[in-house]
Parts: sequence; C-alpha cells; structure tokens
Amino acid sequence: MTDTTEAAPGRPGADLDPFDPAHRADPYPVYRRLRERAPVFRTPRGHWLISGYHDCSSVFRDPRFGHGTTTLRNNTFRRPVGGRSLPFILLDPPEHTRLRSLVSRAFTPRTVAAMGERIQEIVDGMIDVALERGRADIIADLGYPLPATVISELLGVPAGDREAIKELSRLVARGVDPDFRHTPEELRRRAEAFTTFDGYFRELLAHRRREPADDLLSELVAVRDGDGRLTEEELLTTCILLYVAGHETTMDLIGNGTLALLRHPDQLARLRADPGLIASAVEELLRFDPPTQLSRRTALADAEVGGQAIRAGEQVVLLRGAANRDPAVFPDPDRLDLGRRNNRHLSFDGGIHFCLGAALARLEGQIALGTLVRRVPHLRLAGAELTYRDNLVIRGLAALPVLTGR
Ligand code: HEM
Repeated sequence: MTDTTEAAPGRPGADLDPFDPAHRADPYPVYRRLRERAPVFRTPRGHWLISGYHDCSSVFRDPRFGHGTTTLRNNTFRRPVGGRSLPFILLDPPEHTRLRSLVSRAFTPRTVAAMGERIQEIVDGMIDVALERGRADIIADLGYPLPATVISELLGVPAGDREAIKELSRLVARGVDPDFRHTPEELRRRAEAFTTFDGYFRELLAHRRREPADDLLSELVAVRDGDGRLTEEELLTTCILLYVAGHETTMDLIGNGTLALLRHPDQLARLRADPGLIASAVEELLRFDPPTQLSRRTALADAEVGGQAIRAGEQVVLLRGAANRDPAVFPDPDRLDLGRRNNRHLSFDGGIHFCLGAALARLEGQIALGTLVRRVPHLRLAGAELTYRDNLVIRGLAALPVLTGR
C-alpha cells in the first residue's frame, strides 16, 4: 500500500479543487489532471476524491462503503436535516432494501412505459410554442417543465400546486451540495423548505387516503396502510425524494445534452440523418456531461482503494464526471460519439443505489432530444454567454437560449 496522498503543497493534486466554482463551466480538465496525478486523493478537509472509473465502480458495489447512518450524523460533507427520517437514497441495507423494494412495487417498468405517449404530447406542445415564437430557453421552456409535469402527473401533484413547490424543489436540490458550500442562511432555508414540503405532502396524502386516485401517491398510501411496512415519515421523505430526484436531473440531461449537440454540429447532423441513434445518443450525452457529477459514501470498515488505505468512518467522493472520461474504459473519452459502443457510464450510479428512475429519465431524454432535433432543423444558440447554476452535485445551466426559426 502506498502513502496517503495528502493535499499538502508540492504533493500531486494539491492545487486541484473540483469543488471550486471557477471550474463550473468546464470541470473536465481538472478531473483529468486529478485522475492522472492523484486518482485517490485526500483533500485538506479529509474527503477522499476518487476519479478513476474502476475505483469508482468498485466502491459503488462494495458493501464496505455506504452511508453509515450513525456516521452521517457527524458528517462533514452533508448532514441530514434535523430530526427528519432519511430518504432511502441515503440509507444502507436493510432499510434501503426494504424502502426501495416497496417503492419499486409501485413504480414499475409498465408504469413508465405507459407514459411514452403522454411525454410525446407534452414535448410536442412545448416545441409548437418554441417554433411559433422563433426562440426558446431550453431550460425554462422544455428542460424544467417536462420532467416536472411528468413526475407531478405520475405522483398525482395537482397542476395548480406545481409553481408553488418549484422553489422548494430548487432549494432541496441545491441542498444536496456539501454543507461546507452553504452559508448558515442557506442551510436554514433548506431546512425550512423540507418542513414546508413535508406539510404539503402530508396534506396531499391525507387527501388521497380519503379519495384514492390512479396515481403513485395513492399506491404508496396503499403500501403504507396495507401492511404497515412504511411509516408515515418514510412515506413523506419518499414523496419528496421522488419529486426532486425526478426532475432537476432530467432537466440537466435535456439542457446539457442540447448544448453538447449544438457544440458538436457533426454529431447533431449524424443524429438528424439517423434518428434511430437516439437511444445510444442519450447514453453518450449522459456520459459526456452527467447531470449528477458526484456521489458520496462513508467507509463502513477499513478498506483499500487504488492502493490507498481508507479508514472506517472516512468519507469518499466518487467523481462520476471524471470516471466517465477515463481513457482506460472509454477510448478517446473527450470526444462526443453518439454511436459509442459498450457505453458503461456511471451517470445513473453503479451499485444498490442505481437510479430508480433511470428508465423514465431515458424515455424523457430520448423523446425530448429526439423531437427537438427532428422538428427544429434550424436550432442554434441565441448567444455566447452561458451561466451554470451554482450547484456542485447537480450540474446544469441556468438558461439555454436558442433560436428555432430559419
Ligand atoms: C437524467 C436523469 C437522472 C439522473 C442522471 C439520475 C441520477 C441518479 C444517480 C446518480 C443516483 C444515485 C445517487 C447515489 O447513489 O449517490 C440516483 C438515484 C435515484 N434516482 Fe435518479 N437520476 C435521474 C432521474 C431520475 C428520475 C426521473 C427519478 C424518479 C422519478 C429518479 C429517482 C431516483 C431515486 C428514487 C434514486 C434513489 C435510488 C436508491 O437510493 O436506491 N431519478 N439517480
């Protein structure tokens, strides 16, 4: 085993900080240098940054790494919000297994496949408007409202409430960034957003209990009440998890994906000429600029990763944005190749927390991007200035103005 790679001056990687907002527009050069110089790197705060594909992939699958509910309470990366039950994305087996399987029962591949026609209808409506106006903001006019509408309809969140919970969802999504990147005021607003969200879903669930409908909330209520294997608190956290996980990320697949296509006109032309490429195109766009850049885990036991000793209780940050461009797995990794074969990217994770909504996200991404490319032949950027939202984990643009006319 080699020495610990510390971020002391003069040590490899000491000047590299992928958390620095200065790299927001293009974090990939920093990732590359980190992967080349110190693929398992300890930051001054004591977090291990892991940037190689095989190391990330093996940690995702290794039961010696998890969330460690107890250690999470003393976590320096992200603490749970006071007194709330944790969403299963932050739990280890057996709680994770129990909750995930209950939700999977209500959220089946059939439920997702049945959404295809409705997604197409929503996308067509949005593209009609964009064509009529001659311009659009891909984020505000397609990326945000499409997945927000889809997850709201699936869950059964009334259309009239969606605008009001948009800001709550933003605060919760921003809140998945490391705590050390938030001001005390931001942490307070995040905690408040959770309380308001809890109140909102508590009322909606009570309503569904009285009047069940054909939606996921009613099914989850039935699971909760049927055999009591889900507490009311767990039900609330699950609703918020599904709502937030279901759209901030998909919005960024659509935004980052559109931008990558516009910046690679040869690949855009290739997709136009061969629409059947859309499934592999979406996988490549997910690899190339993943909506969630990193995951964190805690070592539940002493372990070794890439020759470095990681002790029980230490936290690791898996940089999937870096792993997805590891040349050991992806030939010519900085090249966008919509026909890339054997594309085993980690954008939906790689272990027991593999994205529960991956099938839905893929369907939305394929329909949104496929329709945009097919129906807007003159699609182009409306300006050069692009700003990324001030998020670290969920990476995406604040706006993506495009012209849709000739
Ligand atoms: C392009 C869009 C999406 C991306 C890139 C994405 C990515 C991810 C990733 C990386 C994880 C694992 C996080 C971790 O282990 O730290 C995850 C988990 C999860 N995602 Fe997604 N997601 C997307 C869309 C969705 C949608 C549409 C839904 C639901 C409706 C969803 C629901 C979930 C849930 C419930 C989990 C937790 C799974 C578990 O812990 O077992 N996601 N997602």
